[in-house]
Amino acid sequence: MTIRFGIVGCGYIANRHARHIVDHPGAQLISAFDIDADKCEKYSSEYGAKPSATLQELVSHPEIDILTICTPNGNHHEIAIQALEGGKHVLVEKPMALSKAQCQQMIAAAESNDRLLFVVKQNRFNPPVQALKRLIDENRLGKLYMVNLNCYWNRNEAYYTNSAWKGTKDLDGGTLFTQFSHFVDIFYYLFGDIEPLSGVIANQNHQGLIEFEDTGCFTFRFNSGALGNFAYTTAAYDRNMEGSISVFAENATIKIGGKYLNTIDYQATNGFNISDLPISGPANNYGHYEGSMSNHDKIIHNVVETLNGRESIMTNAHEGMKVVEIIEKFYRIGELRS
Ligand SMILES: NC(=O)c1ccc[n+]([C@@H]2O[C@H](COP(=O)([O-])OP(=O)(O)OC[C@H]3O[C@@H](n4cnc5c(N)ncnc54)[C@H](O)[C@@H]3O)[C@@H](O)[C@H]2O)c1
Repeated sequence: MTIRFGIVGCGYIANRHARHIVDHPGAQLISAFDIDADKCEKYSSEYGAKPSATLQELVSHPEIDILTICTPNGNHHEIAIQALEGGKHVLVEKPMALSKAQCQQMIAAAESNDRLLFVVKQNRFNPPVQALKRLIDENRLGKLYMVNLNCYWNRNEAYYTNSAWKGTKDLDGGTLFTQFSHFVDIFYYLFGDIEPLSGVIANQNHQGLIEFEDTGCFTFRFNSGALGNFAYTTAAYDRNMEGSISVFAENATIKIGGKYLNTIDYQATNGFNISDLPISGPANNYGHYEGSMSNHDKIIHNVVETLNGRESIMTNAHEGMKVVEIIEKFYRIGELRS
């Protein structure tokens, strides 16, 4: 069955969604809505969709199976709930929402309307991440000792001044939500839940531009007992430097790095080296900054396959909520000391 999509929010990432929907043989883009009617018109004509004049018109469109939400983080939850209550499945961009309470309301709306709620976490599809996941699932690593995350990116003035919502507390939420929720998702996906132990956050180089921190350092402990260490900043000089996860375990030390968790930077293993990885796709390039890996084709494919009963959801709403809950815990502990 062809899966028929509608899109809410016609900005940067919505172009990625539309391109892959249009290119997928099992998907069709029906209509789009944006609060900026001119933008919606232009975007719709570029991808052969019909513009909707209101969100309700899109939600009640009889030909649409699933709505993709590509609006600012702070309104994901209310749009998702309206779509679910209108009988549509929902694919929501990361982060799922800005609080665990909002995520719970979204899950309740999905369950009571018997609809599916997918969350975009495209870095799970990066070949090195999938290779490490297979080793973990096969119990090859042995006891996990420590996981170390380094996220050193650059977000310059233009990134914030060109946006109506980035940098605001209400609609963006914080650097952990917009930039680094991908990395929180990856350590959760690979190694499970954590409890933060200590942390501190500060706005080092974006005063007057953003209403929250640009830099943070945390220690944490996994439920398994392994230790964790997370250092992040959007104040790296001039450009993105690194986005990495180093894993120290009984039978291996492995570092997945590059700028976006797209290369194996180091491995010393007990005879099971990761090799012959497929080449990772390019990062999302937005002109004045680079985002995460561009695996949105795999997200759209997973939606099409899941709604046809041939696959299961790559990142479900409970996992999306868990990431939000972990970020809230980091901020709670970090704000105490800032
Ligand atoms: N997965 C990724 O790697 C990735 C990358 C970039 C952005 N994102 C996420 O995608 C979302 C959008 O980010 P972006 O960079 O495309 O932002 P953007 O500002 O380029 O686009 C957002 C669009 O939403 C529209 N909009 C705002 N409020 C709306 C509303 N209530 N109803 C309908 N339209 C509305 C705006 O007019 C704008 O066109 C964010 O949640 C962001 O975190 C994810």
